[in-house]
Amino acid sequence: MPQTILTDQVTSHETTGTKHHPPFEADRAIEKEANARIDQYPAEQKRSAVLPLLHIVQSKFGYISSDAIEWVAAKLDVEPIKVEEVVTFYPGLRQHAPGKYHIRVCRTLSCAMGGSYELMDKICELAGINRSQTSHHNPVAVSPCGTWSVEFAECLASCGSAPVCLVNDDFHEDLPAEKASELLESYK
Ligand code: FES
Repeated sequence: MPQTILTDQVTSHETTGTKHHPPFEADRAIEKEANARIDQYPAEQKRSAVLPLLHIVQSKFGYISSDAIEWVAAKLDVEPIKVEEVVTFYPGLRQHAPGKYHIRVCRTLSCAMGGSYELMDKICELAGINRSQTSHHNPVAVSPCGTWSVEFAECLASCGSAPVCLVNDDFHEDLPAEKASELLESYK
């Protein structure tokens, strides 16, 4: 496998949420799942499986560590920098560990008009989250305890029940800022 030193941006992926996610490990189950995805592409185009493989990694381990990038690169016979380029391009691919409960608040028009920015502010206030360091490349902010993390999302396809958010895979609708406390309590 080609040896490439990944940038600090990707290798410094630890957060207070790290403890809530298993460390990356290429066990038999993930190897089998990855091979099945790769087999869906012609052998000479297997690099096209990069996004499916990264989604598998993120769903199992919460985020995409440098070890995971090296593994995906080896599976697809590409330089790790090629995988890193994909990871850093898509904000939806997380380079840093989220919290135990990752909250994605919709900020598109209907939800923004319905109060999603106020909802985000209230969640951050209650969870002690500081979003000031977030950016396009690192949109996730984690609470000091590692239990909570937040991120703005684009339209979650439920505009008629704005504002909405996702907590891990749970969908919550009609959620004004006044219900933020109730939302967090429901996960304790
Ligand atoms: S604008 Fe929020 S779900 Fe569509």
